[in-house]
Amino acid sequence: MNFSQKMLRDDALQGKVIVVTGGGSGLGRAMTQYFLELGAQVAITSRDLSKLTHTASELESLTGGTCLPLQCDVRHNEEVENMLQQVLKAFGKVDVLLNNAAGNFISPTERLSANAFDTIIDIVLKGTKNCTLAFGKHWIDSKQSSATVLNIVTTYAWTGSAYVVPSATAKAGVLAMTRSLAVEWAKYGIRTNAIAPGPFPTKGAWDRLLPGDLAQKFNLAKKVPLKRVGDHQELANLAAYLVSDFSAYINGEVIVIDGGEWLKGAGQFNMLEAIPEELWDQLESMIKAKKNK
Ligand code: HXC
Ligand code: NAP
Repeated sequence: MNFSQKMLRDDALQGKVIVVTGGGSGLGRAMTQYFLELGAQVAITSRDLSKLTHTASELESLTGGTCLPLQCDVRHNEEVENMLQQVLKAFGKVDVLLNNAAGNFISPTERLSANAFDTIIDIVLKGTKNCTLAFGKHWIDSKQSSATVLNIVTTYAWTGSAYVVPSATAKAGVLAMTRSLAVEWAKYGIRTNAIAPGPFPTKGAWDRLLPGDLAQKFNLAKKVPLKRVGDHQELANLAAYLVSDFSAYINGEVIVIDGGEWLKGAGQFNMLEAIPEELWDQLESMIKAKKNK
């Protein structure tokens, strides 16, 4: 067995209706494919309907499942409300909201216009808020017995990160929303969790965060203690578990899936990994010699 194999049993999501924002590409697409394989019906949403339609038809042929493409810019609340109504019309209910849509680019912060900063906050933080509020109100008003919100954040939601400040600011807000609602809405049977992925190569992220030859210059795998980037199926396995009933007691959690990347940057002496074995012998004798004086 290896890490790119499928984890859950075939009927793990049978009967569930799942909405994946930003489901037409990248990680959203990978998670959608696995949800379909596990028996869920999935609506994928984003700004680009032709891309969504193409993805939905490819995934239906690959999995034999039902995938509904719906245009919805998460920045606009009326589009979100309309998307929810279309999902309910098509499937009669919705069980899971996966807030995956995001926008990002690298830039020194002082080069950003107010509108550039707003664009990222509007997609990531306000878009997640628009979807969560619309779906949450629906679940509460209709007295649905259980539902799940899963948010995709990043590890810099708590560390912060230079050069992606709007994204870090917005993802930190999504993390706070995750933990707050996990407590407030648990009484309605709504679980709220998050996943914080490390580097998982996708065209959307790599074109904007590592353009040109930056991907070669800053090989992200080298920053990861496990010395590799993530495999899309590994993330899909975790997401499927968190939206399934197997995780019914997990609420308010943010699960990091990054091969140890963020902790490597955090530990004060982690740079000592560069020291070769022979040098450790010398260092040990030097330290012991000091103690014996
Ligand atoms: C400075 C920039 C810029 C750049 C855009 N702007 N790109 N400023 N540097 N590189 C400015 C524009 O000049 C404009 O401001 C404002 O931002 C809005 O730009 P638009 O192009 O009009 O916006 P829009 O068409 O809505 O596009 C949104 C976008 C785009 C976020 C800018 O990149 C996009 O559509 N992204 C969606 C997918 C995505 O980003 N995926 C990656 C997620 S990765 P002015 O003032 O001129 O009007 C991720 C991973 C994290 O989150 C961790 C990875 C390890
Ligand atoms: P991606 O393929 O670019 O995914 C982003 C998706 O969001 C796209 O499908 C895009 O579709 C959609 N989107 C953007 N703006 C939107 C809007 N206003 N309304 C609705 N949908 C919108 O990149 P990805 O790497 O798969 O990222 C997926 C998620 O993982 C994001 O939350 C990202 O922050 C997170 N993440 C990724 C990594 C990584 O290494 N890849 C690491 C940490 C976190 P349209 O353009 O069609 O609208």
